[in-house]
Amino acid sequence: MSNQRPYRVAVLGGDGIGPEVVDVALEVVRAAGVALETTPFDLGAARYLRDGFVLDDDALEQLRRFDAILLGAVGPAIGDTRIPGGVLERGLLLKMRFGLDLYINYRPFRGVAGSIAEGREFAIVRENTEGPYAGEGGVLRFGTPHEVATQGSVNTRFGVERCVRYAFERASRLTRPKLTLVHKTNVLTFAGDLWSRVVSEVGAEFASVEVDYNHVDAACIYLVESPERYGVIVTDNLFGDILSDLAGSVTGGIGYAASANLNPARTGPSLFEPVHGAAHDIAGTGRANPLAAVSSAVLMLEHLGEDAAASRIARAVQDFEGDVTLGTASITQEILGRL
Ligand code: IPM
Ligand code: MN
Repeated sequence: MSNQRPYRVAVLGGDGIGPEVVDVALEVVRAAGVALETTPFDLGAARYLRDGFVLDDDALEQLRRFDAILLGAVGPAIGDTRIPGGVLERGLLLKMRFGLDLYINYRPFRGVAGSIAEGREFAIVRENTEGPYAGEGGVLRFGTPHEVATQGSVNTRFGVERCVRYAFERASRLTRPKLTLVHKTNVLTFAGDLWSRVVSEVGAEFASVEVDYNHVDAACIYLVESPERYGVIVTDNLFGDILSDLAGSVTGGIGYAASANLNPARTGPSLFEPVHGAAHDIAGTGRANPLAAVSSAVLMLEHLGEDAAASRIARAVQDFEGDVTLGTASITQEILGRL
């Protein structure tokens, strides 16, 4: 075993294919020689529908005591309208991101198929606790013809700076160090100006990193037509959410996309999850692609300092990439066999 004691991992399998893919990720991590002590948490749509529980402060405090959190997928089946929008998103996912101060959403992409050259890599560093996600705003005169709804974007100097600094640190480790700020500075002038100034100021400490800027609409075209131009993209919470689905799609499909919700200050555990959703339509059929969950576990191992095991698994996944129609069990065997 590489570590002294088993890492204590809270496992939130969640809904649909979530539990299946997380099981594979745990199996692969253990096969790579890292000891884990896992504690399951029954959270998500199924739990909510059963007893109305989403996530209270007590459960959040329990989660805080783990070394890491591994999450499968959370959400009801498409067309199931029993859970109002926001209940699980704000009440569970964002509550963990905000409550555990997971201020970076790190999403690496590697070309498998699509418009990007195979093997080319870039990453999105998404601010994960502010922007339009912060919950600022409200409703006045609800339901009347004079209803007013506002949803402001919160951008603090502190929040932007710690995100930008993390992105520069990541970018500086690339073979071709490059950071691109993506925003809409020509219209969102207040927030855009803050982000731009912070990128210039922090960038002065990272002389080796080439700095670029794209408007978010243009970035959508570039991601499709020439994603090779990117090294690290740094952007706000909402732009990062949208761009990372697009990035997943142009690099081979969201079935590969992994993400790390990080607390780089390490004041608590970080949370690792595939970018994809619960895919209820294929749950239990043995057809789920577990690679995004496995790659999310790789990010977890990197964060825990288990670099050797992380790169062994990452290499196994890269080796295998290209044939995801085999089914969950066969893909798992293919990965285990390559460790
Ligand atoms: C994601 C998801 C979440 C987000 C939702 C489910 C709250 O889309 O992780 O990208 O918007 O961040
Ligand atoms: Mn998303």
